[in-house]
Amino acid sequence: MGDLTTERSSATGTAPVLVASNRGPVSFGTADDGTLTLRRGGGGLVSGLSAIDDPTAVWVCAALSDADRRAAREAPAGRLDLAGHEVGGQAVRMLDIDPETFARAYNGVANSTLWFVHHLLYATPTAPSFDAGFRTEWAAYQAYNAAFADALAAEAAPGAAVLVQDYHLSLTPALLREARPDLRIGHFSHTPWAPPEYYRLLPDDVARAVLTGILGADRAGFLTERWARAFAACCEDLLGAAFDPAALTVTHEGRTTHLGVHALGADTDFLRERAHRPDVDERLAALRAAVGDRRTIVRVDRTELSKNIVRGLQAYRHLLRTRPEWHDRVVHIAFAYPSRTDLAEYRDYTAAVERLATAINAEFATPAWQPLILHVNDDFPRSLAAYRLADVALVNPIRDGMNLVAKEVPVVSDHGCALVLSREAGAHAELGDDALTVNPYDVIATAEALHTGLTMSPGERADRTKRLAAAATALPPQQWFLDQLNQLNAL
Ligand code: F6P
Repeated sequence: MGDLTTERSSATGTAPVLVASNRGPVSFGTADDGTLTLRRGGGGLVSGLSAIDDPTAVWVCAALSDADRRAAREAPAGRLDLAGHEVGGQAVRMLDIDPETFARAYNGVANSTLWFVHHLLYATPTAPSFDAGFRTEWAAYQAYNAAFADALAAEAAPGAAVLVQDYHLSLTPALLREARPDLRIGHFSHTPWAPPEYYRLLPDDVARAVLTGILGADRAGFLTERWARAFAACCEDLLGAAFDPAALTVTHEGRTTHLGVHALGADTDFLRERAHRPDVDERLAALRAAVGDRRTIVRVDRTELSKNIVRGLQAYRHLLRTRPEWHDRVVHIAFAYPSRTDLAEYRDYTAAVERLATAINAEFATPAWQPLILHVNDDFPRSLAAYRLADVALVNPIRDGMNLVAKEVPVVSDHGCALVLSREAGAHAELGDDALTVNPYDVIATAEALHTGLTMSPGERADRTKRLAAAATALPPQQWFLDQLNQLNAL
């Protein structure tokens, strides 16, 4: 990171709009002949930023792998676009952060600490334990956040708008404001926010640094009002900040930060077009052949602790144990794609999912019927095929910032799909009226909701799906991005 820190507070750049996120819009691999291969990613931010279609905008992101680091090193000041890479509609500056610092910041603090706090994931009798190892990780997180602030300060034109994303970069807004008070800074949290009692698990100085880091922004955005209010409650509780619930502002040490709620929606045009391409049709035919004329319960997730896949499988097992009329009449299709495999908790969780899936098939399968189809390899067209086919979608996270699967299924569904939805998903705020709401910890109630979904009349399912799709698409990614940018510029 040497060259990054020397650029601190150096000459002003030229970008009028900047985005910063840990994961960028592209990633690299290495081909057999040693050359770099580039892969473009998707997601809300990529579609969102396309709304401004501005080649002078700069996206600052971290190098996540050795190939990324090589690409970043070989590009002038990490600017992939200047090295001739096809990075999309904007410039990309990829930060060559040394692998140890990156791993401590990303795995240690962002994913093992802040993610766990906001999703209430700790088994508290034994974790967390903030020891000397954590302090090393925290120092790395500070350096990683400073690297982003330095790069943004170097790229931003005077008065530019900077949109900083997520819990990886909670310190960056305040650091950036210090270096460039002329900028308009926004921060957006894609996660839930923990209630104060749980947030206070963090060491006091860390808890305060995360809050004051975000309060360095002019606007702090959240996916739901619930998460925005939880953030404000933490600011009141830990900082003694003043929250104005009518204006949705937090004032601390003389500065006011506006809170915003922007409920990211599904991308209708993209999804409907993508879901009817031949590769999806092929996979749909294969799934139909495997399922026959049986009903389907579908779930699609990263294998992520917060997604509650194990209890979802327990609920399906309970359904089959208590309602034998479903034997040979339903198939549960569960896609659980690898995620954060550097963390032991995630590897163990994946193994637990696989064990339970095997046990369910062992308990109920017959020569003619496989009750559960589990796939752990990522295949986006197959996910879309499953969305189209589903009679019931199961989305039961312990806690989730939004959950876009809940919003995508109704948009893509061929014949209407009942949605079993956790009340702890951000999406529930908009979809609750037409979903079958569950407490994610209540396995028996979840099994009952699955049964209700499976027995819902086709007419009711279709009607609910129409309303769900309308609610799910209220704020498509481009508008989601533009709203934030406009409101930031209007301050
Ligand atoms: O929900 C927060 C988030 O950063 C999402 O934006 C993203 O889809 C997810 O976590 C994936 O995280 P990672 O980059 O660690 O795979």
